[in-house]
Amino acid sequence: SKKYRIAVIPGDGIGVEVMPEGLRALDAASRRFGIELEYQHIDWASCDYYLEHGKMMPDDWKAQIGGADAILFGAVGWPEKVPDHISLWGSLLKFRREFDQYINLRPARLFEGVPSPLAGRKAGDIDFMIVRENTEGEYSSVGGIMFEGTEREFVLQESVFTRHGTERVLKFAFDLAQQREKKITVATKSNGIGISMPWWDARAAEVAALYPDVKWDKQHIDILCARFVLQPDRFDVVVATNLFGDILSDLGPACTGTIGLAPSGNLNPDRKFPSLFEPVHGSAPDIAGRNIANPIAMIWSAAMMLDFLGNGQGVEREAHDAMLAAVQAALKEGPLTGDLGGKAGTTEVGQAIARRIAA
Ligand code: NAD
Ligand code: IPM
Ligand code: MN
Repeated sequence: SKKYRIAVIPGDGIGVEVMPEGLRALDAASRRFGIELEYQHIDWASCDYYLEHGKMMPDDWKAQIGGADAILFGAVGWPEKVPDHISLWGSLLKFRREFDQYINLRPARLFEGVPSPLAGRKAGDIDFMIVRENTEGEYSSVGGIMFEGTEREFVLQESVFTRHGTERVLKFAFDLAQQREKKITVATKSNGIGISMPWWDARAAEVAALYPDVKWDKQHIDILCARFVLQPDRFDVVVATNLFGDILSDLGPACTGTIGLAPSGNLNPDRKFPSLFEPVHGSAPDIAGRNIANPIAMIWSAAMMLDFLGNGQGVEREAHDAMLAAVQAALKEGPLTGDLGGKAGTTEVGQAIARRIAA
């Protein structure tokens, strides 16, 4: 049977609470479909680790997990303990960059049984993929604060768009569009951000020319946000820079009822490094420790992981499909957590889904 080593990093807050439910679902799926998973449980990459060691991760973190087949990640961040930019640049953002996970694939889907906050939308009306650039763009550490404490104080932070990085994310997205509905929207802001974004548009036009069968348009990020709310049914694949993709990937899932459902794959499509799978949401300190977080984003992320490991085929694909079917059944019949109007706990929802996967 197939055997995979998975580095398991729960992180902080509800990351620690939803991870066991992700593993419970994976255990049920792997048993049923004959996939062997060896978990490497990681107790670093958390704010408590930072408070003890003065850093988020040990110096040999890359050697410890670099040989894993994939990384399953909960969430990191507890701003009362450690400033967010320290904890995130010391862990998650490091993984994305050092493991060259240049695609962040984030589906948004409105499921049966889940009311959308948008009037009149029913299951199936919202079903699109956000392809977010994940290693460069607006997320840079190029810049600094100058003349600090004087009247001339200013801060400068550069955005970096490489030709290589831009072309590869656009190509990935157009490939995906070609396999789906053959239509794609490119998020831009070339009216206001008048150097980098017109350049991004030009790269999009060049890549689009390689895909004559894919219908494409570009939309400025402001109206694109409005259309996510007003006409979400018109989207199938949306490709965006790092920051715009971040914003769209909370907005899209919010339109599908709750961000507690939204999964993501931080992919290294070249498979030189492990890819990382995690909920889109964060560590939610406001609800942490109460067993009320929705575990579905974690469970769906784990399913995406299996599908990626199997290249979209084989028992891994079957396991993914069974996990998603169990999620869909749970959304229709319950039990549900509070973000979906239910009263059930994280554990109860996770157990109910794992039972359905095992069946
Ligand atoms: P968040 O996603 O943690 O929470 C936003 C809101 O959504 C909160 O009210 C929270 O209770 C709710 N929520 C989130 N996940 C939920 C779930 N599974 N079930 C039910 N409700 C859920 O975003 P935030 O409040 O901006 O950030 C909190 C911390 O998490 C910060 O430290 C932030 O930097 C970090 N963060 C980490 C990641 C990550 O590790 N990938 C992602 C986003 C935010
Ligand atoms: C996400 C998160 C991260 C991001 C933060 C925590 C740095 O919001 O994964 O969407 O901006 O990428
Ligand atoms: Mn985000």
